[in-house]
Parts: sequence; C-alpha cells; structure tokens
Amino acid sequence: MSYLITVLPGDGIGPEIMSSGIAVLKTVGQYFQHDFKLEEHAFGGAAIDLTGKPLPEKTLTACKHADAILLAAIGGPKWDLAPSRPEDGLLALRKELGLFANIRPISISEHIAHLSPLKKEVVAGSDFVVVRELTGGLYFGEPKYWNEKKAIDTLSYSSLEIERILIQAFELAKKRRKKVTSVDKANVLASSKLWRKTADRIAKNYPEITLEHLYVDAAAMHIIKEPQHFDVIVTENLFGDILSDEASVIVGSLGVLPSASHGEAFVSLYEPIHGSAPNIAGENVANPISMILSVSMMLEQSFHLTKESAVIKQAVENTLTEGFLTKDLGGDTTTTAFTNQVIHFIREGAKKDAADTF
Ligand code: NAD
Ligand code: IPM
Ligand code: MN
Repeated sequence: MSYLITVLPGDGIGPEIMSSGIAVLKTVGQYFQHDFKLEEHAFGGAAIDLTGKPLPEKTLTACKHADAILLAAIGGPKWDLAPSRPEDGLLALRKELGLFANIRPISISEHIAHLSPLKKEVVAGSDFVVVRELTGGLYFGEPKYWNEKKAIDTLSYSSLEIERILIQAFELAKKRRKKVTSVDKANVLASSKLWRKTADRIAKNYPEITLEHLYVDAAAMHIIKEPQHFDVIVTENLFGDILSDEASVIVGSLGVLPSASHGEAFVSLYEPIHGSAPNIAGENVANPISMILSVSMMLEQSFHLTKESAVIKQAVENTLTEGFLTKDLGGDTTTTAFTNQVIHFIREGAKKDAADTF
C-alpha cells in the first residue's frame, strides 16, 4: 500500500531527529514493502524565515490532504519576539485540524529502569498514558491579551469538549488496565468543577472501568512517587502539558517521549512531546527516540501496521539494552550512530519476521 506523509522538520534539533525518523521509516518501507511517500513542508521558525508566517497556507493544505503528519519540533530564541511565533503556528495547526486528543504514552521496562534518575524499583514497569486535551483551555480561551498594565488568559471548557476527551480516555482504558485518573483543580476552578461532573457522568457508561479523581497539585507528586499506580491519566490542556514533561523524568529523558494527536476529521499528527532544544541543536547529540517512537505510533494508529510498529519499538529497546545511550541518558552515542543501531535491529526484526512467516 501507499501512504502519503506530510513531514514538518521545523527548528533546532527538529531536522536532525526528523532525519532519524525518516531513515527508520525508509527501512521499514524497504523491509516490509510499503510505499511511504514523504512530502516535506516549511513550518515554525523555518517557515517564518521563508514566508513570514509559521503556518503557511501551502503547509496547512498539505497537512489536510495527507494520510498522516510527522512533526519534529519548532521554536527558538531567534523567533521569540516575532509578531507571530513558531508556537502560534503549532497551535493554529492543532486547531485547524481539530486535533483535540493528544496521546502521550510513558513506559519503562525492567531492562532500562536504571536510566531513570529515580529509584529503579519505583519506576520499573511503569506504563501509563497521558491523554491531554489539546484544543481548549487556557491556550485558546477568549479574551486573551496583554499590555503593559494588564494580562488576561481565559480558562474555558464546554461540556462537549470535556466529554469527547474523556470518552477517548475511557475507550483507551478499556483496551488497557481499565483505570482512568482524571486530573483537575475542582477545589478551585469552575472549568474543573464541570470537568469532574462530566467525568462522573461518562464513567456511568463504562462500569468495567475504575475512575479516580486527583487534584493536579497532588497528581504531580503521585506521578513521580508511585508511577506504577497509573494506567490512563486524562486532563486539560495546560495540566497535561506540564505533567507529561514531568513524567519524562520517570523514563530518564524528555528525549524519549512520543505523542499522537487525533481529531474527528482530517488526519492525525505524530510528534515528540519535547521542543526544539536550541541548547543542543546542530551537535548531533539529540536523542532521536521521541521521533522514532512517534513514527512507530503513526504506523500503528494511522496505518494499522501493528507488526511494523512493534518491530521499531523493540529495536529501540534493544539499542538501549545494548548500552547505546545519547548524552541526555548519560552516554556518548551520537544521534546518527544511535539511529544506525536502531536500523540494524529493525532489519534483524524484519528478517526474523520473514523467517517466521515462511
Ligand atoms: P525543550 O523541550 O526544547 O528542551 C528542554 C530540555 O530538554 C533541554 O535541556 C533540551 O536540551 C532537552 N531535550 C529536549 N529534547 C531532547 C532530545 N530529543 N534529546 C536530548 N535532549 C533533549 O524545551 P525548551 O528549551 O523549554 O523550549 C525550546 C523551544 O521549543 C521553545 O521555543 C519552545 O516553545 C519550543 N517547544 C516546542 C515544542 C514542539 O515543537 N512541540 C514543544 C515544547 C517546546
Ligand atoms: C508541547 C509544547 C507546546 C504546547 C508549545 C510549543 C505551544 O510545549 O507540544 O507540549 O504547550 O502544547
Ligand atoms: Mn510541552
């Protein structure tokens, strides 16, 4: 089959880790005989430099017509004072495509639990997913403005917006360990009061699923103290942004966490949860795992290529287990050397799969 993928390398380490993602995709295409058609477009700071806008019309149109979108990362100090920042382009893309459900899996096996700065016995076997609402809340609420005297952001959610993200979380929990933790600040925030009430109502349709509520401040503590407790965490936009970066400490680095963003129409988008890491850009030291695992998520969730997706995940795990570590995980393996090693294990995995089939 043939798949059309819009590729957005973006800024900072974006192009470096996108090269890793593409190399992995090409290997999978070659060994499992899929035709991945890649179309690269300008996005973020790179697009501002080229066209004056972070999300040019041509890029948006290409995204709408693709079978899936792969994004690396955008942003950087160069554009921090631009009238329209790279980040504005990312928010506009999510909104235009209606990508309200951001799925951020976090898991760490026994073999690589030593890579976490936390105690091995605390993190080993942790396996949960943060389901982050992505097109509402403080990011988009109106009024929103600031001047020298005053600044306003608005935290607004409709029951429909809350309902649809909770349904995503419950449906995901059904396929997992059947537990949903809804994170809010219902002791203070009006939007959280509606959030909690809606969660209780939706839970009635899922009698097999256990729902628990946590306030976000306590959740931030519990996630680090007992990560093994969690299965599916569902929360609003800003809480999800913060808690998922915090959760990266469990696995050892922000550089290993991928994500998928889904909506009701158009296509899905796959991207690392981290940013453009300007502090290490251009040095060939970035961890490409977040991008490689985003490719794996794309193969599974958009193209239903379950076997190919699993081979990539296993190849990453094998590479880490063999001791190949980028700088963020305490090693000195370069981005390209790490990627080559993953590709080696994908080839091995593909050969084994072919041998098992015949
Ligand atoms: P960041 O996520 O870029 O970096 C935070 C820290 O994690 C840095 O020390 C960085 O070196 C490290 N890091 C991140 N990814 C890594 C990787 N793959 N390998 C090794 N180390 C990695 O966050 P920041 O520095 O706060 O933001 C930098 C820019 O990125 C800002 O402009 C921000 O708005 C933007 N940003 C973009 C996205 C996105 O594109 N989705 C996400 C977050 C931040
Ligand atoms: C993320 C990023 C973005 C967000 C920024 C860059 C707009 O931090 O994808 O997590 O806050 O959603
Ligand atoms: Mn973030």
